[in-house]
Amino acid sequence: MSDISQRKLDHIDLVLREDVGMAGNPTGFGGYAFIPEALPELAPSDVDLGTTFLGRRFEAPILIASMTGGPQRGEDINRHLGQAAQALGLPMGVGSQRIIFEKPEALASFTAARAAGPDVFLLGNLGAVQLNYGFDPARVIEAVEAIGADGVFLHLNALQELIQPGGDTDFRGLLDRIEAVVKAAPFPVLIKEVGCGIAPETARKLAARGVAAIDVSGAGGTSWAKIEAHRAADPAQRTLGEVFGEWGLPTAVALRGCRDALPDFPLIASGGIRTGLDVAKAIALGADMVSFAMPLLEPATRSGEAVEAALRQILAELRATMFLIGVRDVATLRRSRHLLRTV
Ligand SMILES: Cc1cc2nc3c(=O)[nH]c(=O)nc-3n(C[C@H](O)[C@H](O)[C@H](O)COP(=O)(O)O)c2cc1C
Repeated sequence: MSDISQRKLDHIDLVLREDVGMAGNPTGFGGYAFIPEALPELAPSDVDLGTTFLGRRFEAPILIASMTGGPQRGEDINRHLGQAAQALGLPMGVGSQRIIFEKPEALASFTAARAAGPDVFLLGNLGAVQLNYGFDPARVIEAVEAIGADGVFLHLNALQELIQPGGDTDFRGLLDRIEAVVKAAPFPVLIKEVGCGIAPETARKLAARGVAAIDVSGAGGTSWAKIEAHRAADPAQRTLGEVFGEWGLPTAVALRGCRDALPDFPLIASGGIRTGLDVAKAIALGADMVSFAMPLLEPATRSGEAVEAALRQILAELRATMFLIGVRDVATLRRSRHLLRTV
């Protein structure tokens, strides 16, 4: 098995078995509460969760976050996520596709998502830092076209690369290289972090280079420093990962800052989103779409129906929140004044 395949399996196992979330789910959303509307003048069935993002219509403002691909287990996971995305009319991302250039047979684990979700708005994924390690815009386009995706996420993961054995840590000159991909690609290029957050000034620089959307992916949920600390054989690397286990800008803080900096720019919130109530708070704080990974991993190891059930639960919680504050649709929730800062 290639190093990357083994790494992907380690990541899945560690997220499923170990405590690699940030202690106390410190996303910042806990510091906000909705003002209930005792007289909503609505029935729950009046609430419309539909939304438009990047010119596409989705059944709800929820994006299945980039997770995996590569080994057989990744293929099952992507097929189940694709099935649920298709059934619920939601967009989804696959995990990093770098492996397909080292191990072409890994391609099937990504195309499984498209096969299961022929109508899904599907986003490919590559580490932006790979643009300093032999990847050029043509390769990014090849990766996206190889899986029939509609766009790509380039992820920023400086902390993870720093802790990961043999990580790629040369982040110099990446803004220009990201812009080169944006200019060459015939599809939207989105940027995401992986759980440490994107600060407003960085978001502004990325938006100025033409990226289509940014997922702030803040701190509060999955900690890649903790995951890589578990994998590190070298005690010094393990300690480094543990020290930075809670590093990052909380998701709510990153989101508010980026929304203030970029009032009309497409923003996604992820990082520790665990309930439909969190989703509603993220939208009221300025997110166009909300995304999560860890809560879907375990159901995705079982079946498409299990993923669908987990997502339906979150949709029910989102609908309940909107009903309880008397908000009929997502556009109104985005403008709503029902969210109070409580701390
Ligand atoms: C098992 C697993 C694998 C992941 N792999 C990738 C990846 O390949 N590329 C990427 O951009 N993000 C990856 N992520 C990060 C997520 O997309 C997300 O940004 C992060 O986990 C924070 O969300 P969460 O707290 O809901 O898990 C992965 C997350 C998990 C749980």
